[in-house]
Amino acid sequence: MIKINLEGCSSFVKDAEYQESVKQALEAFDVLASEQGAGNDFLGWKTLPTDTPESLIADCEAVRDSWKAKGVDLVVTIGIGGSYLGARCAIEALSHNFAKQLKSAKDSVEVVFAGNNLSEDYICELMDLVAERNAACIVISKSGTTTEPAVAFRIVKQYLEQTYGREEAAERIVAITDAKKGALKTLSTQEGYKTFVVPDNVGGRFSVLTPVGILPIVVAGFDVRAILAGAAEAQKNLAVKSEQNPAVQYAAMRNLLYSKYGKNVEVLVNYNPKFMFLGEWWKQLYGESEGKDLKGIFPASVNNTTDLHSVGQFIQDGTRCMFETIVNVEKAQRSSIIGEDPQNLDCLNYLAGQHVEHCNAMAQLGTKLAHIDGGVPQIELSIEKIDEFNLGNVFYFFEFACGVSAYQLGVNPFNQPGVEAYKKNMFALLNKPGFEEQSAAIRKRLGE
Ligand code: PA5
Repeated sequence: MIKINLEGCSSFVKDAEYQESVKQALEAFDVLASEQGAGNDFLGWKTLPTDTPESLIADCEAVRDSWKAKGVDLVVTIGIGGSYLGARCAIEALSHNFAKQLKSAKDSVEVVFAGNNLSEDYICELMDLVAERNAACIVISKSGTTTEPAVAFRIVKQYLEQTYGREEAAERIVAITDAKKGALKTLSTQEGYKTFVVPDNVGGRFSVLTPVGILPIVVAGFDVRAILAGAAEAQKNLAVKSEQNPAVQYAAMRNLLYSKYGKNVEVLVNYNPKFMFLGEWWKQLYGESEGKDLKGIFPASVNNTTDLHSVGQFIQDGTRCMFETIVNVEKAQRSSIIGEDPQNLDCLNYLAGQHVEHCNAMAQLGTKLAHIDGGVPQIELSIEKIDEFNLGNVFYFFEFACGVSAYQLGVNPFNQPGVEAYKKNMFALLNKPGFEEQSAAIRKRLGE
């Protein structure tokens, strides 16, 4: 179970204020638990850990095995936002840091991501890689109409059809989309692609435990049953209404820091490069769920100790607008001890005999204390180690806490009206049929 430590906030907030915020968080907890709040048609994620059938996992494994039988060694996973960040976070967290370079990892399937940007160089370089490898593709879009993945998919699909023929290409493509509607669903039916469904009642950023996350994670070779077991443990523990519930405490403290102390920015901090994409996944989850109606805490992330040598300066000493949430990993999985050097020219003999992780832990503690001294409240969330079970726990914790926190803030956690604005302009500028009026207006605005 994820543990929360709020001691690093105690010198910033008054206990009575925190207790009041906990009361509000418990009311928000009730809204989420009773399923009576705004967006309550998007609560399917709450029971995914216990409701996911074994047959779904077996289906995903069948896809993995059929591709392995064809010698597939590269799976291009196409999707954007909630349709890619969970899978990417899990795969990066669980993979060897040097999986791509390691000779012993060469027989495993490599999962790469596309459709999460519109860079022409990116797509060309992706196709350079695809051309060298035996490729298959997972295309993910709940709406089935998102531009970024649609553009990437058209290019990858055409390549697969030209290289392997239309029939074989159809066996190398799996679509994850709506059960009934959308362009991707229509195309999949026509071409006979294997499809998985994104449930109607699960929004993109809450979809990591649906096929959206499960299929790429299984194809990459990780134990999705253990992820679901970790999430199921969190589902059970976090369902208990209590002042000790870590999701309630997290929601209460972050809302208090925001509303009473003007802390408008939350920085998610990790001390392990494998968690870089946890920050990306978390930023989308909290940014899209809370940043609306002119409210919300801006979610940022840093990767330490790397970023202590860049934005660490700002966090210590710049505008006092932020608090930090540290994701503390208690145990390293591997062991590396710093050796003695007779010459000691690097002056590191004082560390001889120490684990590298001990230095990491001391850097983390030293930074926490320095940031408290610098006026940055510290929330700490601890897990035992980075593995499938703990990752499932972390996914569910942040999702549940996000629901509580957004209801406490007074917004609907499950919509994202703000993401439409850029799309309207982009479609107008690209002369998409149906956007003629907006095209004329935007061109006038640009003085064309
Ligand atoms: O969380 C969300 O709903 C969004 O980030 C979507 O996941 C993202 O826009 C991709 O949408 P779609 O899956 O419809 O292509």
